[in-house]
Amino acid sequence: FERAEAAVSGLTRWCDDFPTPGVRFADLTPVFADGPGFRAVIEGLAAVGAGAEIVAGVDARGFLLGGGVAMELGCGVLAVRKAGKLPPPVHSQSYSLEYGAGTLEIPSDAPDLRGRRAFVIDDVLATGGTLLAAAELLTRAGAEVVGVAVVLEIEELGGRARLDQYPVTSLMRV
Ligand code: PRP
Repeated sequence: FERAEAAVSGLTRWCDDFPTPGVRFADLTPVFADGPGFRAVIEGLAAVGAGAEIVAGVDARGFLLGGGVAMELGCGVLAVRKAGKLPPPVHSQSYSLEYGAGTLEIPSDAPDLRGRRAFVIDDVLATGGTLLAAAELLTRAGAEVVGVAVVLEIEELGGRARLDQYPVTSLMRV
């Protein structure tokens, strides 16, 4: 993950007191906007997703990553959406994160995820609430979550422990 780490440590935009006071927000936008940086993170994530049959990318930056990783792995991609964006029927899962709460959704009728090996991708792992909700949704839809991967893990927020039933990979930890 050396090239990905170099891109993330060089290009991440750290924003104090966003979106709420006391939170230090890691914005990976410049990493993804850099050609070699984007390639490095996509290749790094894809390297741990071998064997997946579908890549699930979490709203919103996980969409960018999920598409690239799915192309690398030669499989399909699923957008795990924030609530209210998908027509019914859906599976819904509420979660909390460092600065609030939310609900994620996936379609419950198509695609048929039963028995499919799913690889779940997002940009940042902080408290783990978001990725846990995404993994639970996929499990409820009958998929087998074979891995969870992120570009950046913020260790002090303890997300990895909440995801202990899944293999978790981060390209870089702070
Ligand atoms: C951020 C980030 C992850 C999540 C991580 O998303 O992109 O999805 O928080 O936090 P957690 O581990 O504490 O759950 P955010 O909800 O800010 O939405 P965005 O991706 O639409 O910016």
